[in-house]
Amino acid sequence: MVNNKASALSLAVSALTLAGSADAFWRLPCRGRTGVGRLDPIMDPGEVSDHVHVIHGGNKFGIDNTPQDLASSDCTSCAVTQDKSAYWTPPIYFLHSNGTAEMVEQVGGMLAYYLLYTDSANPNGKITAFPEGFQMISGDKRQRSFPYPIPDNDKSSWTADQKTQSALSQKALGFNCLNYAATPEASLYRHFLPDKDYLDANCLDGIRLELMFPSCWNGKDVDSDDHKSHVAFPDLVMSGACPEGFGTKLPSLFFETIFNTYAFKGMDGQFVLSNGDPTGYGYHGDFQMGWDSVDFLQSAVDTCTNASGEIEDCALFNIQSEADQGQCTFAEVDAIKDDNPLGPREDGLPIAVPIQSGPSYATNYPVVLAGDETQAAATSTKASSKATTSAASASAVVPTLSYTPGTSSVTDKYGGGILLAETASSYVQSPTAVVSVSASTVTAAASLADAETDAAGNIIATSWYTSGNQVMEMMIEEVDVTVTATAVETANAHARRHVGKEHRRVRGHPRR
Ligand SMILES: *[C@@H]1O[C@H](CO)[C@@H](O)[C@H](O)[C@H]1NC(C)=O
Ligand SMILES: *[C@@H]1O[C@H](CO)[C@@H](O)[C@H](O)[C@H]1NC(C)=O
Repeated sequence: MVNNKASALSLAVSALTLAGSADAFWRLPCRGRTGVGRLDPIMDPGEVSDHVHVIHGGNKFGIDNTPQDLASSDCTSCAVTQDKSAYWTPPIYFLHSNGTAEMVEQVGGMLAYYLLYTDSANPNGKITAFPEGFQMISGDKRQRSFPYPIPDNDKSSWTADQKTQSALSQKALGFNCLNYAATPEASLYRHFLPDKDYLDANCLDGIRLELMFPSCWNGKDVDSDDHKSHVAFPDLVMSGACPEGFGTKLPSLFFETIFNTYAFKGMDGQFVLSNGDPTGYGYHGDFQMGWDSVDFLQSAVDTCTNASGEIEDCALFNIQSEADQGQCTFAEVDAIKDDNPLGPREDGLPIAVPIQSGPSYATNYPVVLAGDETQAAATSTKASSKATTSAASASAVVPTLSYTPGTSSVTDKYGGGILLAETASSYVQSPTAVVSVSASTVTAAASLADAETDAAGNIIATSWYTSGNQVMEMMIEEVDVTVTATAVETANAHARRHVGKEHRRVRGHPRR
Protein backbone atom coordinates (compact mmCIF):
# COMPACT_ATOMS: atom_id res chain seq x y z
CA MET A 1 0.00 0.00 0.00
CA VAL A 2 2.94 2.32 0.50
CA ASN A 3 5.41 2.81 -2.27
CA ASN A 4 8.05 4.66 -0.36
CA LYS A 5 11.39 5.56 -1.87
CA ALA A 6 12.46 8.24 0.57
CA SER A 7 14.32 6.67 3.45
CA ALA A 8 13.69 9.56 5.78
CA LEU A 9 9.99 9.02 5.41
CA SER A 10 9.95 5.35 6.15
CA LEU A 11 9.98 5.81 9.88
CA ALA A 12 6.87 7.91 9.67
CA VAL A 13 5.18 5.34 7.53
CA SER A 14 5.98 2.47 9.83
CA ALA A 15 4.74 4.39 12.83
CA LEU A 16 1.54 5.12 11.01
CA THR A 17 1.19 1.45 10.26
CA LEU A 18 1.46 0.76 13.96
CA ALA A 19 -1.20 3.29 14.72
CA GLY A 20 -3.46 1.76 12.15
CA SER A 21 -3.05 -1.78 13.33
CA ALA A 22 -5.12 -3.45 15.97
CA ASP A 23 -2.35 -3.39 18.56
CA ALA A 24 -3.72 -2.31 21.85
CA PHE A 25 -1.91 -0.66 24.71
CA TRP A 26 -2.41 1.23 27.91
CA ARG A 27 -0.47 4.11 29.31
CA LEU A 28 0.09 3.86 33.04
CA PRO A 29 1.04 7.13 34.71
CA CYS A 30 3.14 7.03 37.87
CA ARG A 31 2.93 10.66 38.91
CA GLY A 32 4.59 10.05 42.23
CA ARG A 33 8.11 8.93 42.91
CA THR A 34 8.59 6.46 45.75
CA GLY A 35 12.15 7.69 46.16
CA VAL A 36 15.47 8.77 44.70
CA GLY A 37 18.65 7.02 45.65
CA ARG A 38 21.53 4.66 45.03
CA LEU A 39 19.36 1.56 45.11
CA ASP A 40 19.01 -1.27 42.63
CA PRO A 41 17.62 -4.46 44.17
CA ILE A 42 18.07 -6.32 40.86
CA MET A 43 21.67 -5.40 40.05
CA ASP A 44 23.02 -4.77 43.56
CA PRO A 45 20.75 -6.56 46.06
CA GLY A 46 21.74 -5.73 49.62
CA GLU A 47 24.35 -3.18 48.60
CA VAL A 48 24.49 0.52 47.87
CA SER A 49 24.32 0.92 44.11
CA ASP A 50 27.07 2.85 42.33
CA HIS A 51 24.66 5.45 40.95
CA VAL A 52 21.29 7.11 41.65
CA HIS A 53 17.90 6.02 40.31
CA VAL A 54 14.48 7.64 40.31
CA ILE A 55 12.05 5.00 41.53
CA HIS A 56 8.30 4.55 41.03
CA GLY A 57 5.66 1.99 41.93
CA GLY A 58 5.00 -0.07 45.06
CA ASN A 59 6.47 1.18 48.32
CA LYS A 60 7.89 -2.12 49.63
CA PHE A 61 10.98 -1.19 47.70
CA GLY A 62 14.39 -1.04 49.27
CA ILE A 63 17.97 -2.19 49.13
CA ASP A 64 17.15 -5.87 48.63
CA ASN A 65 13.44 -6.36 47.98
CA THR A 66 12.22 -9.06 45.64
CA PRO A 67 9.28 -8.76 43.26
CA GLN A 68 7.24 -10.81 45.73
CA ASP A 69 7.98 -8.29 48.49
CA LEU A 70 6.31 -5.59 46.43
CA ALA A 71 2.97 -7.38 46.74
CA SER A 72 2.76 -6.32 50.39
CA SER A 73 3.19 -2.64 49.49
CA ASP A 74 0.79 -0.32 51.33
CA CYS A 75 0.53 1.95 48.33
CA THR A 76 1.80 2.63 44.84
CA SER A 77 2.99 5.86 43.25
CA CYS A 78 1.28 4.78 40.02
CA ALA A 79 -2.31 5.51 39.04
CA VAL A 80 -3.64 1.94 39.08
CA THR A 81 -3.79 0.69 42.64
CA GLN A 82 -3.57 -2.97 41.62
CA ASP A 83 -0.06 -2.32 40.31
CA LYS A 84 2.66 -2.45 42.98
CA SER A 85 5.40 -3.16 40.44
CA ALA A 86 8.64 -1.20 40.67
CA TYR A 87 10.05 0.84 37.78
CA TRP A 88 13.39 2.67 37.96
CA THR A 89 15.89 4.48 35.74
CA PRO A 90 18.83 6.88 36.17
CA PRO A 91 17.99 10.62 36.21
CA ILE A 92 19.84 13.44 34.45
CA TYR A 93 22.15 15.74 36.41
CA PHE A 94 23.51 19.11 35.50
CA LEU A 95 27.20 19.42 36.20
CA HIS A 96 28.13 23.07 36.54
CA SER A 97 31.54 23.99 35.17
CA ASN A 98 32.77 24.54 38.75
CA GLY A 99 32.04 20.87 39.52
CA THR A 100 28.76 21.37 41.46
CA ALA A 101 26.12 18.82 40.48
CA GLU A 102 22.35 18.99 40.83
CA MET A 103 19.62 16.66 39.66
CA VAL A 104 17.51 18.10 36.87
CA GLU A 105 13.82 18.45 37.78
CA GLN A 106 11.78 15.40 36.73
CA VAL A 107 8.46 16.50 35.26
CA GLY A 108 5.27 14.51 35.77
CA GLY A 109 6.75 11.39 37.30
CA MET A 110 6.93 8.63 34.70
CA LEU A 111 4.76 6.81 32.22
CA ALA A 112 4.94 3.05 31.84
CA TYR A 113 3.34 1.90 28.62
CA TYR A 114 2.05 -1.64 28.36
CA LEU A 115 2.07 -2.22 24.60
CA LEU A 116 0.23 -5.35 23.62
CA TYR A 117 2.11 -6.40 20.51
CA THR A 118 1.95 -9.98 19.38
CA ASP A 119 4.92 -11.82 17.92
CA SER A 120 4.88 -11.12 14.18
CA ALA A 121 6.00 -14.71 13.64
CA ASN A 122 2.86 -15.78 15.49
CA PRO A 123 0.41 -12.92 15.00
CA ASN A 124 -2.55 -14.75 16.48
CA GLY A 125 -0.60 -15.80 19.54
CA LYS A 126 -1.50 -14.51 22.95
CA ILE A 127 0.23 -12.08 25.24
CA THR A 128 1.23 -13.62 28.53
CA ALA A 129 1.20 -11.63 31.76
CA PHE A 130 4.51 -11.28 33.62
CA PRO A 131 4.81 -14.29 35.92
CA GLU A 132 5.17 -14.04 39.67
CA GLY A 133 8.70 -13.12 40.69
CA PHE A 134 9.58 -11.78 37.27
CA GLN A 135 12.23 -9.08 36.94
CA MET A 136 14.45 -7.77 34.16
CA ILE A 137 16.62 -4.89 33.06
CA SER A 138 17.01 -3.10 29.76
CA GLY A 139 20.12 -1.23 28.62
CA ASP A 140 23.70 -1.31 29.88
CA LYS A 141 25.03 1.36 32.26
CA ARG A 142 28.59 0.94 30.93
CA GLN A 143 27.79 1.41 27.23
CA ARG A 144 29.30 4.61 25.74
CA SER A 145 29.18 4.15 21.97
CA PHE A 146 26.79 3.26 19.18
CA PRO A 147 28.37 1.46 16.21
CA TYR A 148 25.30 1.50 13.93
CA PRO A 149 24.02 4.07 11.41
CA ILE A 150 22.71 7.37 12.77
CA PRO A 151 19.82 7.85 12.35
CA ASP A 152 18.66 4.23 12.22
CA ASN A 153 18.54 2.92 8.69
CA ASP A 154 15.19 1.61 7.54
CA LYS A 155 14.17 -1.36 9.68
CA SER A 156 13.41 -3.44 6.62
CA SER A 157 17.08 -3.18 5.60
CA TRP A 158 18.57 -4.16 8.96
CA THR A 159 21.30 -6.75 8.48
CA ALA A 160 21.90 -9.66 10.84
CA ASP A 161 24.54 -7.54 12.61
CA GLN A 162 21.98 -4.81 13.11
CA LYS A 163 19.56 -7.28 14.66
CA THR A 164 21.75 -8.90 17.29
CA GLN A 165 20.32 -8.63 20.79
CA SER A 166 23.09 -6.17 21.63
CA ALA A 167 22.21 -3.98 18.64
CA LEU A 168 18.49 -4.11 19.39
CA SER A 169 19.14 -3.22 22.99
CA GLN A 170 21.19 -0.14 22.00
CA LYS A 171 18.33 0.98 19.75
CA ALA A 172 15.78 0.46 22.51
CA LEU A 173 16.50 3.80 24.13
CA GLY A 174 15.68 7.29 23.02
CA PHE A 175 16.11 10.96 23.88
CA ASN A 176 13.16 12.93 22.59
CA CYS A 177 13.74 16.68 22.31
CA LEU A 178 10.53 18.29 23.55
CA ASN A 179 9.11 21.46 22.09
CA TYR A 180 5.33 21.39 22.30
CA ALA A 181 5.06 24.25 19.84
CA ALA A 182 6.69 22.14 17.11
CA THR A 183 5.84 18.83 15.50
CA PRO A 184 6.81 16.08 17.93
CA GLU A 185 9.84 13.93 17.26
CA ALA A 186 9.63 10.22 16.65
CA SER A 187 9.99 7.89 19.62
CA LEU A 188 13.28 5.99 19.88
CA TYR A 189 14.69 8.13 17.13
CA ARG A 190 17.79 9.56 18.79
CA HIS A 191 19.82 7.06 20.81
CA PHE A 192 22.06 9.59 22.51
CA LEU A 193 21.76 12.57 24.82
CA PRO A 194 22.09 15.75 22.75
CA ASP A 195 24.69 18.18 24.00
CA LYS A 196 23.80 21.24 26.00
CA ASP A 197 23.93 23.70 23.10
CA TYR A 198 21.41 21.59 21.20
CA LEU A 199 19.12 21.23 24.23
CA ASP A 200 19.28 24.99 24.91
CA ALA A 201 18.50 25.85 21.30
CA ASN A 202 15.78 23.31 20.54
CA CYS A 203 14.29 21.50 23.50
CA LEU A 204 12.22 24.21 25.14
CA ASP A 205 10.16 21.71 27.13
CA GLY A 206 13.07 19.52 28.17
CA ILE A 207 14.05 16.05 27.14
CA ARG A 208 12.04 12.82 27.31
CA LEU A 209 14.03 9.69 28.09
CA GLU A 210 12.52 6.58 26.50
CA LEU A 211 13.30 2.95 27.14
CA MET A 212 11.85 -0.16 25.55
CA PHE A 213 12.15 -3.46 27.40
CA PRO A 214 12.56 -6.90 25.84
CA SER A 215 9.16 -8.54 25.30
CA CYS A 216 10.03 -12.09 24.21
CA TRP A 217 10.44 -14.56 27.09
CA ASN A 218 11.91 -18.04 27.32
CA GLY A 219 8.74 -19.11 29.10
CA LYS A 220 10.40 -20.51 32.19
CA ASP A 221 12.90 -18.29 34.05
CA VAL A 222 11.67 -15.31 36.02
CA ASP A 223 15.22 -13.91 36.10
CA SER A 224 18.72 -14.79 34.91
CA ASP A 225 22.28 -14.12 36.06
CA ASP A 226 22.66 -10.99 33.93
CA HIS A 227 18.94 -10.18 34.39
CA LYS A 228 18.61 -10.10 30.60
CA SER A 229 19.14 -13.52 29.08
CA HIS A 230 15.75 -14.93 30.10
CA VAL A 231 14.20 -12.35 27.74
CA ALA A 232 14.95 -11.02 24.25
CA PHE A 233 13.95 -8.20 21.96
CA PRO A 234 11.81 -8.90 18.92
CA ASP A 235 13.74 -8.13 15.74
CA LEU A 236 12.32 -4.63 15.26
CA VAL A 237 12.94 -3.63 18.92
CA MET A 238 9.34 -2.69 19.66
CA SER A 239 7.54 -5.04 17.35
CA GLY A 240 8.59 -7.82 15.03
CA ALA A 241 9.45 -11.48 15.45
CA CYS A 242 10.73 -13.12 18.62
CA PRO A 243 13.93 -15.15 18.34
CA GLU A 244 13.89 -18.91 18.64
CA GLY A 245 13.53 -20.09 22.21
CA PHE A 246 11.81 -16.85 23.24
CA GLY A 247 8.37 -17.48 21.83
CA THR A 248 6.34 -16.39 24.85
CA LYS A 249 5.23 -12.83 24.23
CA LEU A 250 5.02 -10.54 27.25
CA PRO A 251 3.51 -7.07 27.41
CA SER A 252 6.06 -4.70 25.82
CA LEU A 253 7.09 -2.26 28.53
CA PHE A 254 8.12 1.24 27.51
CA PHE A 255 9.23 3.86 30.07
CA GLU A 256 9.11 7.61 29.60
CA THR A 257 10.55 10.17 32.00
CA ILE A 258 10.90 13.89 31.30
CA PHE A 259 13.62 16.19 32.66
CA ASN A 260 13.51 19.96 32.53
CA THR A 261 16.93 20.54 31.01
CA TYR A 262 15.77 23.89 29.68
CA ALA A 263 15.89 25.32 33.21
CA PHE A 264 19.69 25.39 32.79
CA LYS A 265 19.65 27.31 29.53
CA GLY A 266 22.63 29.60 29.18
CA MET A 267 24.50 28.15 32.16
CA ASP A 268 27.99 26.72 31.78
CA GLY A 269 28.31 23.00 32.23
CA GLN A 270 27.05 19.72 30.86
CA PHE A 271 24.27 17.20 31.35
CA VAL A 272 25.14 13.72 32.45
CA LEU A 273 23.23 10.61 33.51
CA SER A 274 23.66 9.67 37.17
CA ASN A 275 25.96 6.81 36.13
CA GLY A 276 28.55 9.33 34.89
CA ASP A 277 27.42 9.05 31.28
CA PRO A 278 27.36 12.26 29.20
CA THR A 279 26.60 10.30 25.99
CA GLY A 280 23.28 8.69 26.91
CA TYR A 281 24.30 5.36 25.37
CA GLY A 282 24.47 3.96 28.90
CA TYR A 283 20.82 4.70 29.67
CA HIS A 284 18.98 1.77 31.25
CA GLY A 285 16.10 0.77 33.47
CA ASP A 286 14.72 -1.97 35.66
CA PHE A 287 11.37 -3.64 36.26
CA GLN A 288 10.05 -5.89 39.01
CA MET A 289 6.62 -7.46 38.58
CA GLY A 290 4.34 -6.43 41.41
CA TRP A 291 0.81 -6.59 40.05
CA ASP A 292 -1.68 -7.85 42.65
CA SER A 293 -1.83 -11.19 40.86
CA VAL A 294 -0.71 -12.71 37.61
CA ASP A 295 -4.35 -13.55 36.90
CA PHE A 296 -5.37 -9.93 37.34
CA LEU A 297 -2.66 -8.73 34.99
CA GLN A 298 -3.63 -11.44 32.50
CA SER A 299 -7.26 -10.23 32.58
CA ALA A 300 -6.10 -6.67 31.99
CA VAL A 301 -3.89 -7.75 29.09
CA ASP A 302 -6.80 -9.71 27.60
CA THR A 303 -9.53 -7.10 28.07
CA CYS A 304 -8.01 -3.61 28.39
CA THR A 305 -7.68 -3.15 24.68
CA ASN A 306 -9.49 0.13 24.03
CA ALA A 307 -7.51 1.93 21.33
CA SER A 308 -7.47 5.10 23.42
CA GLY A 309 -4.73 3.66 25.65
CA GLU A 310 -6.34 5.45 28.58
CA ILE A 311 -6.45 3.52 31.84
CA GLU A 312 -9.86 5.09 32.46
CA ASP A 313 -11.18 2.98 29.58
CA CYS A 314 -10.34 -0.25 31.40
CA ALA A 315 -13.11 -1.19 33.82
CA LEU A 316 -10.80 -3.49 35.81
CA PHE A 317 -8.50 -0.75 37.02
CA ASN A 318 -8.97 1.12 40.27
CA ILE A 319 -7.54 4.54 39.67
CA GLN A 320 -6.23 6.82 42.41
CA SER A 321 -5.67 10.56 42.31
CA GLU A 322 -2.36 12.19 41.48
CA ALA A 323 -2.25 13.50 45.04
CA ASP A 324 -2.45 9.95 46.38
CA GLN A 325 0.19 8.77 43.90
CA GLY A 326 2.41 11.58 45.16
CA GLN A 327 2.12 10.46 48.78
CA CYS A 328 3.50 6.96 48.33
CA THR A 329 7.15 6.63 49.33
CA PHE A 330 9.38 3.76 50.46
CA ALA A 331 10.97 3.65 53.90
CA GLU A 332 14.26 5.46 54.37
CA VAL A 333 17.26 3.23 53.70
CA ASP A 334 19.92 3.78 56.32
CA ALA A 335 22.98 3.20 54.14
CA ILE A 336 22.08 6.08 51.81
CA LYS A 337 20.23 8.47 54.09
CA ASP A 338 23.02 11.10 53.97
CA ASP A 339 23.56 10.89 50.21
CA ASN A 340 21.85 14.16 49.18
CA PRO A 341 20.95 12.75 45.75
CA LEU A 342 19.15 15.91 44.58
CA GLY A 343 22.02 18.26 45.31
CA PRO A 344 23.38 20.76 44.68
CA ARG A 345 26.56 18.95 45.67
CA GLU A 346 29.94 20.63 45.38
CA ASP A 347 31.72 17.31 44.94
CA GLY A 348 29.90 16.21 41.79
CA LEU A 349 27.59 13.27 41.19
CA PRO A 350 26.39 11.24 44.17
CA ILE A 351 28.76 9.92 45.13
CA ALA A 352 32.21 10.12 43.56
CA VAL A 353 30.90 8.81 40.24
CA PRO A 354 33.53 9.48 37.55
CA ILE A 355 32.39 10.98 34.26
CA GLN A 356 33.26 8.48 31.53
CA SER A 357 32.66 9.79 28.02
CA GLY A 358 33.72 6.76 26.05
CA PRO A 359 33.75 5.64 23.38
CA SER A 360 35.30 2.71 25.23
CA TYR A 361 33.16 0.63 27.56
CA ALA A 362 33.02 2.34 30.96
CA THR A 363 34.94 0.85 33.86
CA ASN A 364 33.57 0.01 37.26
CA TYR A 365 34.47 2.31 40.14
CA PRO A 366 34.25 2.00 43.92
CA VAL A 367 31.06 2.80 45.79
CA VAL A 368 31.80 5.60 48.25
CA LEU A 369 29.48 5.95 51.22
CA ALA A 370 28.37 9.36 52.45
CA GLY A 371 30.60 10.40 55.32
CA ASP A 372 33.58 8.44 54.11
CA GLU A 373 35.45 11.73 53.83
CA THR A 374 38.92 10.58 52.91
CA GLN A 375 37.92 8.24 50.16
CA ALA A 376 35.21 10.57 48.89
CA ALA A 377 37.57 13.54 48.72
CA ALA A 378 40.23 11.58 46.87
CA THR A 379 37.80 10.08 44.39
CA SER A 380 35.78 13.22 43.83
CA THR A 381 38.84 15.26 42.95
CA LYS A 382 39.50 12.65 40.33
CA ALA A 383 35.85 12.74 39.27
CA SER A 384 35.60 16.49 38.90
CA SER A 385 38.88 16.86 37.06
CA LYS A 386 37.66 14.17 34.70
CA ALA A 387 34.41 16.07 34.37
CA THR A 388 36.21 19.19 33.30
CA THR A 389 38.35 17.51 30.72
CA SER A 390 35.53 15.36 29.42
CA ALA A 391 33.15 18.26 28.78
CA ALA A 392 34.98 19.17 25.61
CA SER A 393 35.51 15.64 24.38
CA ALA A 394 31.93 14.66 25.13
CA SER A 395 30.52 17.40 22.96
CA ALA A 396 33.02 16.54 20.27
CA VAL A 397 31.67 12.99 19.98
CA VAL A 398 27.97 13.91 19.90
CA PRO A 399 26.78 12.74 16.50
CA THR A 400 24.99 14.96 14.06
CA LEU A 401 21.41 14.08 13.36
CA SER A 402 18.68 15.52 11.23
CA TYR A 403 15.22 16.00 12.62
CA THR A 404 12.60 13.36 11.94
CA PRO A 405 9.18 14.81 12.46
CA GLY A 406 5.85 13.69 13.53
CA THR A 407 5.66 10.00 14.24
CA SER A 408 4.28 10.44 17.70
CA SER A 409 1.89 12.83 19.32
CA VAL A 410 1.83 14.47 22.67
CA THR A 411 -1.05 12.85 24.47
CA ASP A 412 -0.19 13.46 28.06
CA LYS A 413 -0.25 16.78 29.84
CA TYR A 414 3.37 16.31 30.88
CA GLY A 415 4.49 15.53 27.36
CA GLY A 416 4.28 11.76 27.21
CA GLY A 417 3.35 10.23 23.91
CA ILE A 418 4.40 7.30 21.84
CA LEU A 419 3.44 5.76 18.51
CA LEU A 420 0.05 7.28 18.15
CA ALA A 421 0.11 8.76 14.75
CA GLU A 422 1.75 11.23 12.56
CA THR A 423 0.60 14.81 12.61
CA ALA A 424 1.29 17.37 9.90
CA SER A 425 4.78 16.70 8.69
CA SER A 426 5.97 20.06 7.49
CA TYR A 427 8.95 21.10 9.56
CA VAL A 428 11.72 23.60 9.13
CA GLN A 429 14.84 23.02 11.16
CA SER A 430 15.73 25.86 13.45
CA PRO A 431 18.73 27.73 12.02
CA THR A 432 20.23 27.99 15.48
CA ALA A 433 20.48 24.23 15.81
CA VAL A 434 23.94 22.99 16.65
CA VAL A 435 23.38 19.83 14.68
CA SER A 436 24.23 20.13 11.03
CA VAL A 437 21.08 20.25 8.94
CA SER A 438 22.25 21.51 5.58
CA ALA A 439 21.22 18.52 3.50
CA SER A 440 18.65 17.08 5.78
CA THR A 441 15.64 19.31 6.07
CA VAL A 442 12.51 17.36 5.37
CA THR A 443 9.90 19.43 3.65
CA ALA A 444 6.54 17.99 2.92
CA ALA A 445 5.01 19.52 -0.17
CA ALA A 446 1.60 18.33 0.86
CA SER A 447 0.00 19.70 3.96
CA LEU A 448 -3.00 18.66 5.95
CA ALA A 449 -4.91 21.33 4.10
CA ASP A 450 -4.24 19.41 0.90
CA ALA A 451 -5.29 16.24 2.59
CA GLU A 452 -8.59 17.87 3.56
CA THR A 453 -9.53 18.09 -0.07
CA ASP A 454 -9.15 14.36 -0.56
CA ALA A 455 -12.07 12.05 -0.31
CA ALA A 456 -12.75 11.04 3.28
CA GLY A 457 -10.45 8.28 4.46
CA ASN A 458 -10.71 5.85 7.32
CA ILE A 459 -10.31 6.98 10.89
CA ILE A 460 -7.46 4.83 12.07
CA ALA A 461 -6.70 6.27 15.48
CA THR A 462 -8.05 8.69 18.01
CA SER A 463 -6.00 10.30 20.67
CA TRP A 464 -6.31 12.97 23.29
CA TYR A 465 -3.88 15.63 24.26
CA THR A 466 -3.81 18.84 26.22
CA SER A 467 -3.09 22.20 24.74
CA GLY A 468 -2.98 24.99 27.27
CA ASN A 469 -6.07 24.48 29.36
CA GLN A 470 -8.02 22.52 26.81
CA VAL A 471 -8.36 18.92 25.92
CA MET A 472 -8.07 18.17 22.25
CA GLU A 473 -9.33 15.09 20.55
CA MET A 474 -7.36 14.15 17.51
CA MET A 475 -8.69 11.67 15.03
CA ILE A 476 -6.26 10.35 12.52
CA GLU A 477 -7.71 9.69 9.13
CA GLU A 478 -5.89 7.71 6.53
CA VAL A 479 -5.69 9.48 3.17
CA ASP A 480 -3.40 9.32 0.17
CA VAL A 481 -1.36 12.34 -0.79
CA THR A 482 1.71 12.80 -2.89
CA VAL A 483 4.65 14.49 -1.30
CA THR A 484 8.04 15.65 -2.44
CA ALA A 485 10.77 15.17 0.09
CA THR A 486 14.35 16.27 0.27
CA ALA A 487 15.81 13.84 2.70
CA VAL A 488 19.14 12.91 4.17
CA GLU A 489 20.22 10.43 1.59
CA THR A 490 17.50 10.88 -0.97
CA ALA A 491 17.48 14.26 -2.57
CA ASN A 492 14.37 15.11 -4.55
CA ALA A 493 12.83 11.73 -4.04
CA HIS A 494 9.19 11.35 -4.77
CA ALA A 495 7.13 9.20 -2.57
CA ARG A 496 3.52 8.33 -2.33
CA ARG A 497 2.47 7.77 1.20
CA HIS A 498 -0.24 8.07 3.74
CA VAL A 499 -0.36 11.00 6.06
CA GLY A 500 -2.45 11.59 9.10
CA LYS A 501 -5.22 14.06 8.74
CA GLU A 502 -6.11 15.78 11.93
CA HIS A 503 -9.51 16.74 13.16
CA ARG A 504 -9.49 18.73 16.32
CA ARG A 505 -12.36 18.98 18.69
CA VAL A 506 -12.24 20.94 21.89
CA ARG A 507 -13.86 19.62 25.00
CA GLY A 508 -15.42 22.20 27.25
CA HIS A 509 -13.41 21.53 30.38
CA PRO A 510 -9.75 21.25 31.25
CA ARG A 511 -8.37 17.80 31.67
CA ARG A 512 -7.40 16.85 35.17
C1 LIG B 1 29.05 26.54 41.12
O1 LIG B 1 28.25 27.29 40.23
C2 LIG B 1 26.86 27.29 40.52
C3 LIG B 1 26.17 28.06 39.42
O2 LIG B 1 26.70 29.33 39.30
C4 LIG B 1 26.61 27.85 41.89
O3 LIG B 1 25.24 27.79 42.19
C5 LIG B 1 27.40 27.07 42.92
O4 LIG B 1 27.24 27.64 44.19
C6 LIG B 1 28.87 27.03 42.53
N1 LIG B 1 29.58 26.17 43.44
C7 LIG B 1 30.64 26.58 44.10
C8 LIG B 1 31.29 25.57 44.96
O5 LIG B 1 31.08 27.72 44.02
C1 LIG C 1 -13.21 3.07 24.36
O1 LIG C 1 -13.33 4.13 25.27
C2 LIG C 1 -14.16 5.18 24.85
C3 LIG C 1 -14.09 6.29 25.87
O2 LIG C 1 -12.84 6.88 25.80
C4 LIG C 1 -15.57 4.67 24.66
O3 LIG C 1 -16.39 5.71 24.19
C5 LIG C 1 -15.55 3.53 23.68
O4 LIG C 1 -16.85 2.98 23.60
C6 LIG C 1 -14.57 2.46 24.11
N1 LIG C 1 -14.46 1.46 23.08
C7 LIG C 1 -14.62 0.18 23.32
C8 LIG C 1 -14.48 -0.73 22.16
O5 LIG C 1 -14.89 -0.24 24.43
